[in-house]
Amino acid sequence: MSEGYSSKPMQATKIGDRIVRVDAVQKARGEAVYVCDMTLPDMQYAYMVRSTIARGRIKAIHVPELPEGYYFISAKDIPAQGKNELWMIAKDWRCFAEDYVLYVGETIGLVVGPDRSVLKRLKAQIKIDYEEQTPAVTIDDGIHCVGGPMFPEKNSNVMCELFCEKGRPMDEVFAEADEVFEETIETPYQEHVHLETNSAIADMEDGKFVFYASAQCPFYIRKSIAGLLDIPYDDIIVRQCTTGGAFGGKEHFPDVLCGALLVAENKIRKPIKMVFDREEDTQFSVKRHPSKCIYKTAVKDGKITGVYGHIYYNCGAYLSSSYVVLQRGVFHGNGVYTFDNTYLKGEGIGTNMFPSCAFRGFGAPQTLFAIETHLDHLAHHLGVDPLEFKMQYLAKKGDETTTNGHIIEEVKLPEMLDVESDYWRKAKEYKPGCGRGIGIALYNHGGAFTGNGEQAIIKAHARLVKTGDRVSIQVGSTEMGQGFKTSLRKICAATLGVSIDQIEYLDPDTSKVVDSGPTAASRSTMVVGRLVERAAQEMKERWSEGDFTTEVEYEHPDGYPWDQATFRGDAYLGYGWGVACVEVEVDKLTNEVKTLGVWSSHEIGKAIDELIVHGQINGGILQALGYGSMEKLEVKGGRFKQKSMSDYVIPTSMDFPKQFYHIQENPYPWGPYGAKGMGELVFNGASAAYVDAVERALNTRFTSIPIPPEAIEEAMKHVH
Ligand code: MTE
Ligand code: MOS
Repeated sequence: MSEGYSSKPMQATKIGDRIVRVDAVQKARGEAVYVCDMTLPDMQYAYMVRSTIARGRIKAIHVPELPEGYYFISAKDIPAQGKNELWMIAKDWRCFAEDYVLYVGETIGLVVGPDRSVLKRLKAQIKIDYEEQTPAVTIDDGIHCVGGPMFPEKNSNVMCELFCEKGRPMDEVFAEADEVFEETIETPYQEHVHLETNSAIADMEDGKFVFYASAQCPFYIRKSIAGLLDIPYDDIIVRQCTTGGAFGGKEHFPDVLCGALLVAENKIRKPIKMVFDREEDTQFSVKRHPSKCIYKTAVKDGKITGVYGHIYYNCGAYLSSSYVVLQRGVFHGNGVYTFDNTYLKGEGIGTNMFPSCAFRGFGAPQTLFAIETHLDHLAHHLGVDPLEFKMQYLAKKGDETTTNGHIIEEVKLPEMLDVESDYWRKAKEYKPGCGRGIGIALYNHGGAFTGNGEQAIIKAHARLVKTGDRVSIQVGSTEMGQGFKTSLRKICAATLGVSIDQIEYLDPDTSKVVDSGPTAASRSTMVVGRLVERAAQEMKERWSEGDFTTEVEYEHPDGYPWDQATFRGDAYLGYGWGVACVEVEVDKLTNEVKTLGVWSSHEIGKAIDELIVHGQINGGILQALGYGSMEKLEVKGGRFKQKSMSDYVIPTSMDFPKQFYHIQENPYPWGPYGAKGMGELVFNGASAAYVDAVERALNTRFTSIPIPPEAIEEAMKHVH
């Protein structure tokens, strides 16, 4: 069945219609084409040869004699005019390590050839001599420059840093306080576990390099790798294939595969395919940043007078998107609350670990977990109800944000608190330590790129092409499971007053579509959806003119300044807001937790498609509950201990049954039909709600996640 058109009688689609997801049938029937399904004539295969140590010099690389048609591709194959660097945000990530390695899994070369079993044998025969050095692995190792500074010129391992402040100087606030409540809260690595592993194919067509990739951002790939050969972007064509989940893990990381393949393709000039197996994907791809947040909260007469936060993220060996992830973490560092005085400092620490990168929430989940948990602990310390305590500080329209901007919208959280969960009754009834507990967390997520990023950096475009009574959407935004194709076609059809079956939106090809910016930061429905709505409004007015094209560019509303040099101003025009509530029962003998119910309410402006939003809520909350409760990705000597889905355990619906959800509408003036971003929001709070519930059930406190039974057992040793 074609995903584009159908022969059903055409009825105009409305935003409120409940429709079948446009990619559902193809995916369910196994007809959707993923990179690993593609075989081109004379297909060659590639495997990565990676560093097996975390830090050291490469003394020699011993490559066995290669049979004809087999290649070892390395930094030496980058032509003289090219540079051995990938251009993500900075240009620090080397395509191939040359004389030294910075982390386990760093790409050193590729073995390429026609037969995969021969390649595996050759790969095993490649021997690398290293002179090992002591690696810095943890944030603390990084701070203390274990093994020596990664940036000798600065004599430090600080890769990126920023701060924002509001109100009076913190030392004054601390001096006047009755007490300063201090805690260090830590969050771990998290693996994306997208069901489709990272994969890409390189090929040549009419003298141009063509890539088929499982990726979120086809235009990012082009920009990132062109410098390797010093060629214009237009000499590289990226075609996204069906992408089986991404969650941020395919935002910049596909550049690492495609960059290496480009160097190989330039030499070999045959189609080359590289598909990671699950073990490679688990051990040798980007992860969520671990964090360490030191919060110091000043209290006077039982009230918070100021919040100080020192936030560290473990960036790994290259910057990747860390600076932007850290910014979002810092900007969300006061949660959904307004405090008169606050100082938040963020430092991205370089270590000899696989670089960290985007993961649903993009830096916000770490600080939101920390502030929410910290405030709960402070409330218990003061002997008051945590939710009542936090409610006093709830942000409202007009409040000054941590970046000296303002909350532009009405905050609906008070009316979203107790939807069906019966929170207030249960919170009073279940006594601390009784074995049963109900926990609650409040959170938000700033939609789209921070500050003037949309206007100054991305400058997104959208184009519609009308042919007869059919319309093709031509944008570079991608479907990765979040339901974007359905939402976007629905917006377009509803605006034009035609059927969704008359709208075509294919997986983007960079040579055919306009750049609508990365599919990240929950910006696609909110920003690109709005562009398509505008282009469709224009098209509708001229509908009778025959075949034509409309194209629009992003316009930033006036009156919301942002200064990227000082991080002052309106970081976000609109936030999604959420409440998650979790009820648990803990077996005090085995420390096993049974989840009795999960309730959530999310304010997302407007649901473009309720079924899709429902899917996002269920999935995002489950992913967050896994993060808080069971997902363990431990590190030993710079290596991840968990290697596959059999030892990296993610939750299923059996672990967290009975999800109830509520969608709160509050139309956003600059989104399509009033919609805001929501794909990441739904991740941002359930982990804190879960920890709160377990803490109350056992009358104990946790300052790090996850909290599997063994962590609960450890915590209970300290309860008397
Ligand atoms: N949902 C599914 N099923 N698969 C994904 O890869 N990615 C998440 C989220 N939901 C993801 C997902 C991330 S990281 C982002 S940024 C948003 O979807 C993107 O949503 P958008 O289409 O609104 O930009
Ligand atoms: Mo999402 S982490 O911004 O791809």
